[in-house]
Amino acid sequence: MIQTIERGPGLRGEVRCPGDKSISHRNAMLAALARGRSELRGFAGSRDCLSTLDCLRLLGVKILVQGTTVTVFGRGLHGLQPPAQTLDAGNSGTTIRLLAGILAGQPFPAVLTGDESLSRRPMGRIIRPLRLMGADIGSREGDLPPLRVSGGNLRAIRYALPVASAQVKSCVLLAGLYGDGVTAVEEKVATRDHTEIALGHFGGTVRRHGHWVEVDPGPRLQGREVDIPGDLSGAAFFIVAAALVPGSEILLPGIGLNPSRRALVDYLRSAGVRVTVENESKGAGEPRGDLRASYDRAALEQPLPRIEGAAAAALIDEIPILAVLGSQAGGLEIRDAGELRVKESDRIATVAAGLRAMGAEVREAADGLVVAGRQRLAGAGIPTHGDHRIAMAFAVAALAASGRTEIHQAECADVSFPGFFDILNQARSGAHSPGHSK
Ligand code: S3P
Repeated sequence: MIQTIERGPGLRGEVRCPGDKSISHRNAMLAALARGRSELRGFAGSRDCLSTLDCLRLLGVKILVQGTTVTVFGRGLHGLQPPAQTLDAGNSGTTIRLLAGILAGQPFPAVLTGDESLSRRPMGRIIRPLRLMGADIGSREGDLPPLRVSGGNLRAIRYALPVASAQVKSCVLLAGLYGDGVTAVEEKVATRDHTEIALGHFGGTVRRHGHWVEVDPGPRLQGREVDIPGDLSGAAFFIVAAALVPGSEILLPGIGLNPSRRALVDYLRSAGVRVTVENESKGAGEPRGDLRASYDRAALEQPLPRIEGAAAAALIDEIPILAVLGSQAGGLEIRDAGELRVKESDRIATVAAGLRAMGAEVREAADGLVVAGRQRLAGAGIPTHGDHRIAMAFAVAALAASGRTEIHQAECADVSFPGFFDILNQARSGAHSPGHSK
């Protein structure tokens, strides 16, 4: 499907973002491993999280979905059933990598597969630690999916992450639930800690000592109620759209503000973008708040602060949309972000190609991008390579461009943000006003 977008009026009113994708995956998996019933409210209806639910169902877990409330009838740590068919993670790296950790601890074999994009993404990063724990993992040549996982009793390991990756950390911690002692993971660069928080909430024991995170094996996880906050990585597209389009002022209620995820808010503020946080609260260990974002021309007059080192890891999912913002502000340099090359698409290449197609000047580096500032964007056809964050980033770029932009394979936005284009259109017509949101 092609979505056509043209420049138009500012964004106004209230924008409801889907539940946080990372938190939804983890809570669904842990609810499946808990005893009894869990109610997950505000669950992400994103395609990725539905892939997780489908895989869990094939492992014998009963799951009911009513709107954004997901009820999971947990089977206990040792209650999963051998699947009758291949588990399809779809487009979702989090599903395949975290589930591989859980499957490594099961006394039956299972096969995990994914779509074309996921089938090109590196799995060596989880295969290596899981093999160290004693799991038997087969893959396609090059450590690519499908993965055949069989395990059972695992050895506890102490493992230093070779890449800053919450997915790898989480995979090892989840496998550690089936270890013969305390499993520990060292992360020199902090990554999102939703697994640690959710494990604690369901009754597991997780400790942090400096850069090390430790998990105790064999917990008796108990079903819980969880209110999942909105997804800041999805909100990012609307915040940047508001910052770019004159006359914009939007409210994004109930967005997750976990310190390991909120770098975007602090980054944008340091760049002079008007984003404020109101009504902060905490549920199931995860902080949340309402975000208000508005246009301020002054924010577009300076280069954006360079993104490098730990900031690159902390902003990894937001870099495509920040590159768009950088092209309209005074430019942006991104370094140490080589991980972008192994996301749903090679995001260094797809961001560079999209911006160039719209007439911007961009230099590609092995580990980043240099985006020239104050570029006049012109509408163009954007090949998204089926990557949801590329589709949404260039939908926002289109709001600052002359002429018409065509976003190809636009339906891929559903991977993390179902209804994104409708919500964007409603916000542009101001129809999505406070009190009348869906
Ligand atoms: C995620 C972690 C990040 C992120 C992805 C979701 C998670 O990936 O890019 O969108 O839920 O753990 P890596 O851990 O591979 O960096």
